[in-house]
Amino acid sequence: MVRVLMVCLGNICRSPLAEGILKSKTFLKNVKVDSAGTGAYHIGSLPDKRSIAIAKQHNLDITDHRGRQFSVKDFDDFDVIYVMDSSNYKNVIRLARNEQDEQKVKMILNEVFPGENLDVPDPYTGGSHGFRIVYDMLNEACDIIVEKLS
Ligand code: 4NP
Repeated sequence: MVRVLMVCLGNICRSPLAEGILKSKTFLKNVKVDSAGTGAYHIGSLPDKRSIAIAKQHNLDITDHRGRQFSVKDFDDFDVIYVMDSSNYKNVIRLARNEQDEQKVKMILNEVFPGENLDVPDPYTGGSHGFRIVYDMLNEACDIIVEKLS
């Protein structure tokens, strides 16, 4: 069993989408996928309407997710922690207790562009176009993640 956690800031836009995409690609495999936010703003919330909509356009239903905040326990509960941007990276690394925790944390777009530390842009304040771009980026990254898990 491989346990993968997707992390963004609010856990309503990017990481629930990443969770839904990776779940859909790994449903026949022994993979656990979840998501969390570094912030506490949206604990208990549904994903953003625009994330729900872009997921639905790709036949994914992400409405069973509720926002939750990343906690230190997640270092024990997950093998790989994919963050969406460098700010998420700093916030998660700050909570790491040791080198083993730190090594679990990876920038998700480094799967597509190794070593470049590119951000999945925060689409929250923009329009629906930003969510389409985010979907495409996450879909490409998740294809590579699935290949590595096989
Ligand atoms: P996310 O987007 O990190 O992709 O879920 C955001 C959602 C909410 C906020 C920021 C980013 N916020 O500040 O409320």
